[in-house]
Amino acid sequence: NDEQFKNVISHAKEYGFVFQSSEIYDGLSAVYDYGQLGAELKNNIKTYWWKAMVQMHENIVGIDSAIFMHPKVWKASGHVDGFNDPMIDNKDSKKRYRADQLLENKIDELYSELINFSAENKAKFEEFQQEILGLSDEGQASWVPSFKDEEGILDSNKFPFVDEVSWKFVKKGLALEVEMNLALKSENLALLKDLIVDYKVICPISKTSNWTDVRQFNLMFSTQFGAMAEGSDEVYLRPETAQGIFVNFLNVQKSGRMKIPFGIAQIGKAFRNEVIARQFIMRMREFEQMEMQFFVRPGEDKKWFEYWKEARLKWHKALGTPPEKYRYHDHVKLAHYANAATDIEFEFPFGFKEVEGIHSRTDFDLTQHQEFSGKKLQYFDNDLNEDGKPYGNYVPYVIETSIGLDRMFLLTMINSFEEQDLSTEDKQDSRTLLRLHPALAPYKVAVFPLTKKDGLPEKAREIMDTLKFDFNCIYEEKDAIGKRYRRQDAIGTPFCLTIDHQSLEDNTVTIRHRDSMEQERVAIADLGDIVGKAVSW
Ligand code: GAP
Repeated sequence: NDEQFKNVISHAKEYGFVFQSSEIYDGLSAVYDYGQLGAELKNNIKTYWWKAMVQMHENIVGIDSAIFMHPKVWKASGHVDGFNDPMIDNKDSKKRYRADQLLENKIDELYSELINFSAENKAKFEEFQQEILGLSDEGQASWVPSFKDEEGILDSNKFPFVDEVSWKFVKKGLALEVEMNLALKSENLALLKDLIVDYKVICPISKTSNWTDVRQFNLMFSTQFGAMAEGSDEVYLRPETAQGIFVNFLNVQKSGRMKIPFGIAQIGKAFRNEVIARQFIMRMREFEQMEMQFFVRPGEDKKWFEYWKEARLKWHKALGTPPEKYRYHDHVKLAHYANAATDIEFEFPFGFKEVEGIHSRTDFDLTQHQEFSGKKLQYFDNDLNEDGKPYGNYVPYVIETSIGLDRMFLLTMINSFEEQDLSTEDKQDSRTLLRLHPALAPYKVAVFPLTKKDGLPEKAREIMDTLKFDFNCIYEEKDAIGKRYRRQDAIGTPFCLTIDHQSLEDNTVTIRHRDSMEQERVAIADLGDIVGKAVSW
């Protein structure tokens, strides 16, 4: 899996999908540039999302709000005070760590300890695991505890017998220790009464190194706005696009005469000064989000949460991704503003990880902005309720869908990357293939004249000139045809057209299909239809 991931990363660079930012200066950590093919693929993912969310829903409209916002926005949203990662520095090695990740490693160790608590209890434990949780033997792997990276919250799905975990880091001389208290879930106590109820562990992170204390590190980037001398000119780069939607709630509702339930969508950059950035474009400091806030009547939030949970997974699966690669991860511990939350996770080569979050955010954000701005952010609902009276004025509840565009890009690359062995008895052969959904492919059509003479390039150009109004096309006349096919396979082009001498006589070309490698002779006049059908949703 590691190997496959490395191959995808080098493939992305080799063919112009993703480059490290400022590479000639040795790069800037966790910042990436999209190259000529990456920009196309990214745009196509955006279009797929925008069409599904905005074009296909009469009650959802899209906006494009500014990255800079009034500093009070982030006070109201809770980001100034609460958008932190716990951080630790090793003074000897000068390396910086996320404290929750150190803790994750420790919990892994603790887990083995718990499992081996005693042979007798272990048997009970496994019985419990299989009968109550319905986990098979293989399912045990999912018991390996881990922390949610973003929030530092215990992933209770993976550590289901624990109700509460609290921890503190303690400095002991040069070394750092973590003290953890685990409390078992109360409903499990009857079953597990012979097991531990409270469990305290003290483990050294390192016996010798010299550590700083744990510090809370705010993830927002700030910069100076305008040229004022006073300190009031600090602004933040937005860490999520959602707040641009909340502050425009009334503008859009009034100018668009929107009736509840309705949604506001947007795609845009977000910035987070991640303490540790890793796994290529999985965790970046500058990234892009595709978010939608759906405004509903109080009391109808649960219903719409379920609706969006299902609708969003359908969107993912419609791309042809094997369904078993996706799963939901319902949050047990919720952020202060949420009354329900789930992640859509994809099985990356490094395990199941979040691609998208669906959050029931209650009326938290609009109420906060009302308070901090002093402006009413209410909706007047003149529909009649069960008692025959208008619902009246209220602050709507919000269901949010939030997907990381770069993660979706990575998922798409990983999922479509394939190294195929095409060897026969007589000959060794292979090809690298990006099995992209045709609608996502950077180029839809590659146009090849068989040779560089006899008027074939001119004929090929003529065909390309008609197709390029509707489809992104690429023209290639260098190298043998076989080699040209391989190059297009590697960048995911679904169709290659070869123009030969027969084309000049009967206006037909050979069309070659990427996945099956089948070739057929078709009329030039039919090309638009053939390609059009394949690349539409
Ligand atoms: N408005 C809600 C929100 O921002 P989030 O779970 O923090 O929620 C939503 O982020 C999505 O944004 C994630 O599911 C992930 O796909 C993406 N994302 C978050 N941080 C990221 C980062 N540092 N790099 C790349 N994508 C990130």
